[in-house]
Amino acid sequence: MSWEKTIRERRSIRKFNSDPVTEEQIAALFREAEGLCPYDGRARWRYLYAGTEEARRRLADYLLEKVLDSKMARLVPGKLIEVYRKRFMEAQANVVVIAEKDNDPSKHDENYGTVCRILQNAQLLGWKRKLGMIWVTESYIQNETFFARIGLQANERFVGVLQIGHFDKTPKGKSRTPAERFWTDGGERPNRSGEIRPDTRELVLELLNHAVWAPNHGLREPWRFHYRSGDAVRGLQTGTAEARELLIVTNKQESDELKRNENLAATFCLVQNFKLLGEERGLTGKVVYPEWMRDREACQRLGIPDKERAAAVVEIVRGPESKQTSRASAEASPRWSLL
Ligand SMILES: Cc1cc2nc3c(=O)[nH]c(=O)nc-3n(C[C@H](O)[C@H](O)[C@H](O)COP(=O)(O)O)c2cc1C
Repeated sequence: MSWEKTIRERRSIRKFNSDPVTEEQIAALFREAEGLCPYDGRARWRYLYAGTEEARRRLADYLLEKVLDSKMARLVPGKLIEVYRKRFMEAQANVVVIAEKDNDPSKHDENYGTVCRILQNAQLLGWKRKLGMIWVTESYIQNETFFARIGLQANERFVGVLQIGHFDKTPKGKSRTPAERFWTDGGERPNRSGEIRPDTRELVLELLNHAVWAPNHGLREPWRFHYRSGDAVRGLQTGTAEARELLIVTNKQESDELKRNENLAATFCLVQNFKLLGEERGLTGKVVYPEWMRDREACQRLGIPDKERAAAVVEIVRGPESKQTSRASAEASPRWSLL
């Protein structure tokens, strides 16, 4: 199945059947997901797996502990709590995902961005194998009690729980807004030296219109796209000398930290979709987090609206210069332990 078809057809699954899923299967899936997202150095994230009935019950208890302890519990009928517990226990496999924080803002963004992109790979690879998933980040689970139970350290951040299982029914997809609505370009056109291929802009837009089928909580579609090329990007440090075309992917500013993280995570899923789609169409997209993307003046010069924050920059390389994405980290073993 092509990435295009998988990306468009994948749905978040919230109702699982009881067909078995093994830890080996899921660990192998995550190794493959990491292999599709090469990174430098060691993994700066880890996974906690809950698959046995006992571990799943424990995870459900941890997820609900704060709700049960709080004043809210008196307002939430016992039956409803049981519905939640059942829902949390239904998925045969669960992966709690934790990323490292970093004092260096580029590394901090990159750690979170990379693990979110790996989770999107896992969702897509799972879909190809008829495994459904839901990425859970509900506000009522994000509290100190739950974080203490999963052993979250001060230098770590919670990314989410990925619930995984087989399923009987595929929910209908909710339509996405065309990428053009969220798009600006600098108006540059191909120059005589042939630095910019005339059809790249169109291809980028075409790929984005598939990439917008990324999961995103509350269907907030938090992404915005700014395509810049030619003189506008000359001299900007990005990492790859050949890249003369950049796709700057931004988010609307968001003051609520939880929503901000969900928006960022969804945007990284979209970026990973774009990268996979590009590989199918001879376009190499290198995801980078340069310092200037956090610099207000540099962003203003690029015409990025004040109300937006850059999530990542994708350097676009086409034609003979295109390099195959390295699979260097495919052999790396994810940091995997049992909950
Ligand atoms: C970072 C992230 C967090 C999410 N958190 C939740 C969640 O807590 N509960 C939930 O039901 N769905 C969650 N979702 C799934 C979205 O609601 C779902 O992607 C969206 O409704 C679009 O549906 P689709 O994935 O089937 O295209 C999350 C998705 C992402 C990417």
